[in-house]
Amino acid sequence: MNRRSRLLAAPLIGAAIALTAAGFAPFVSGADAAPARAAAAPAHPWMNPKLSPDKRAQLAVAAMTNDEKLVLVFGYFGTDFGTRFKAHAEARAGSAGYVPGIPRLGIPAQWETDAGVGVATQGGAAHKRERTALPSGLATTATWNPDTAFAGGAMIGREARMSGFNVMLAGGVDLLREPRNGRNFEYGGEDPWLAGVMVGSQVKGIQSNNIISTIKHYAVNDQETDRGEGNSIIEESAARQSDLLAFQFAIEAGNPGSIMCSYNKVNGTHACEHPWLLTQVLRTDWGFKGYVMADWGATHSTVAAANAGLEQDSGFGLSSTPYFGEPLKAAVAKGEVSQARLDQMATRILRAMFANGLFDHPITEAPLDLPAADLAKHADITRADAEESMVLMKNDGAILPLSPDVKSIVIVGGHADKGVLAGSGSSLVYPVGGNAAPGIAPTGWPGPRMYYPNSPMAAIQRQAPNAKITYVSGDDPAAAARAARKADVALVFATQWVGEAFDVSLTLADNQDTTIWAVAAANPKTVVVLETGGPVLTPWADEVEGLVEAWLPGTAGGDAIANVLFGKVNPSGHLPATFPKSLDQLPKPSEPNKGDTTYSEGAAVGYKWYDAKGLEPAFPFGWGLSYTSFDLGGLTAKPGNGTIMVSFSITNTGKVAGAEVGQVYVSGTGWEAPKRLGGFEKFYLKPGETKTARFGIDPRLLATWDLAGHCWRIAGGTYTVILGASARETSQTVQVTLKPRTLPATWRPGR
Ligand code: BGC
Repeated sequence: MNRRSRLLAAPLIGAAIALTAAGFAPFVSGADAAPARAAAAPAHPWMNPKLSPDKRAQLAVAAMTNDEKLVLVFGYFGTDFGTRFKAHAEARAGSAGYVPGIPRLGIPAQWETDAGVGVATQGGAAHKRERTALPSGLATTATWNPDTAFAGGAMIGREARMSGFNVMLAGGVDLLREPRNGRNFEYGGEDPWLAGVMVGSQVKGIQSNNIISTIKHYAVNDQETDRGEGNSIIEESAARQSDLLAFQFAIEAGNPGSIMCSYNKVNGTHACEHPWLLTQVLRTDWGFKGYVMADWGATHSTVAAANAGLEQDSGFGLSSTPYFGEPLKAAVAKGEVSQARLDQMATRILRAMFANGLFDHPITEAPLDLPAADLAKHADITRADAEESMVLMKNDGAILPLSPDVKSIVIVGGHADKGVLAGSGSSLVYPVGGNAAPGIAPTGWPGPRMYYPNSPMAAIQRQAPNAKITYVSGDDPAAAARAARKADVALVFATQWVGEAFDVSLTLADNQDTTIWAVAAANPKTVVVLETGGPVLTPWADEVEGLVEAWLPGTAGGDAIANVLFGKVNPSGHLPATFPKSLDQLPKPSEPNKGDTTYSEGAAVGYKWYDAKGLEPAFPFGWGLSYTSFDLGGLTAKPGNGTIMVSFSITNTGKVAGAEVGQVYVSGTGWEAPKRLGGFEKFYLKPGETKTARFGIDPRLLATWDLAGHCWRIAGGTYTVILGASARETSQTVQVTLKPRTLPATWRPGR
């Protein structure tokens, strides 16, 4: 199945439209097809880097014809699409998108690449760029370390730049409200603060390469089922306190050049023509200065979209209806879209290009292969991220870390003899060395099902050179149990394949639960290693001694898993999402449906829901063990700066170095749930070492959204501040009394 047929419902319009970039858009004719080079461009006043991005954009737009402005606001698919669409010659082959430059004015092209784990190649492309993949976005969030997110972003942004791209379509921050959402692996988990801080840090890292990154998919795009037409119904205050707050925090932390509006409808209106989302919330309330680009095929109108606040239509060629371009030209001529609005659209895109260095640091090349030395350095970065992301969920009898002297290991399942699983869809990064387990259906969209060629089994053998290691596929539970019976340890690799355009089951597919039960019954020394996109059901958890969540660990994932299993790295990941005990614990136990989805749980997403309903999950949000032990204490909480100022200390009370996350939750009244995460800090500590954290809680996390007053309100009264190592472990609590406070919708830190 090709990508387009799965992706979009929009009908093909008349064959009369030549679906080629050059043929379709007459207004491009004024623009030379050759890529712009700032160095070769005449000295225009907007090329002066001493001027502000606003001034430069304003000067450039003043010099542009309307046809040139229309070039800027219209993006093409970067890949040939069957016989219907031939990508522009100047697009990067196999890429997500291309917006032609305007050489007359020294305006560079926008070369767009997916996505959050690295430089992806579109599935239909003849030649794949082989690049470094980070662990999934959810995995990076599980590090609870914004510096790690930044480092990963800086690395993939560097590869984007080295590959000839200046716009990266990364920055997924939709809240994990529906654990079966097939794209949760691209996002930052279930808490707005954690997701916002982590995804924002990654965006900042990407943009440190003088390229633009996006934040996406705006908004409430929390399931893939019927994503093109599905309608997310959510009450405004609840949205402001949950999904929208995650975007708001991510924008403040990352300052992205762009935001991508999503496929779905929100409260009845498509996100890319939603004046409330795109103008009221994003511009008026949040003061966003970048531009809004549509997801590929998410534009549904010309006049409504442009007037609602969409600045750039995307992916024409993959989508078959050109809403901007000629139709926008006609709408401006008729006055349905004002000249001022077209100018504003062009200005916002150019401003982001100036602000993020696209003019002053032009892209100079686009090689298909990257130098081996760079890839080696980048492998270290992705490996470190993966190692830090892994969550030691269970470790009975200290079965882990494994000894390098272990004599026999049986490895079961997950193609662990070959590689590690990746998430699929437009964000799929193709690795150097190709698919380690090719040919597993689906081999086309939304696949391929990809295994990165970094074998956990080979890495385990390197750690335990004298061990006899046997691999069995796990397809036959009885055979797996027989093989496991006599081994010193049995490692079962269980996988959940996830990707774009479909939702998933929380029960492991292909009878993997049965295999785990069989192996655990045969050998008490059983450790399960999960490679999943997000939470799954773990009905066998009591039967196994060890459990490690390795997520989708990226192109160095096999080494990272072995390093954690053998204690070369002390695990320090914490769950960014709750693992339910059963589906009936979810706000909506039935599968994601088509049409309307009412999020009646409102802002009580994830652990907040479990707290509000008094449910005991299998593993709580924030959970994560270590090979050492920590003492969390010394909590202080006082009113200050219009919020609560907290401090606490963490001491490593064990025998090996390790890292711990101190999580500060706050309990207030009249909230969607008993408590909210107010902040966190991760410390690396040598044995016996203590470090102290001090920060102020973002006051919006103490407030509720006042619909009538259009503002945040902190109620006067007593708040309980809780220090813990997860949402369900409390080390200490302190009470604080706050005076009432009102924050305008436009409130931001530092203003
Ligand atoms: C996805 C986006 C992606 C775009 C370009 C869409 O299908 O939803 O996340 O950036 O394609 O490939």
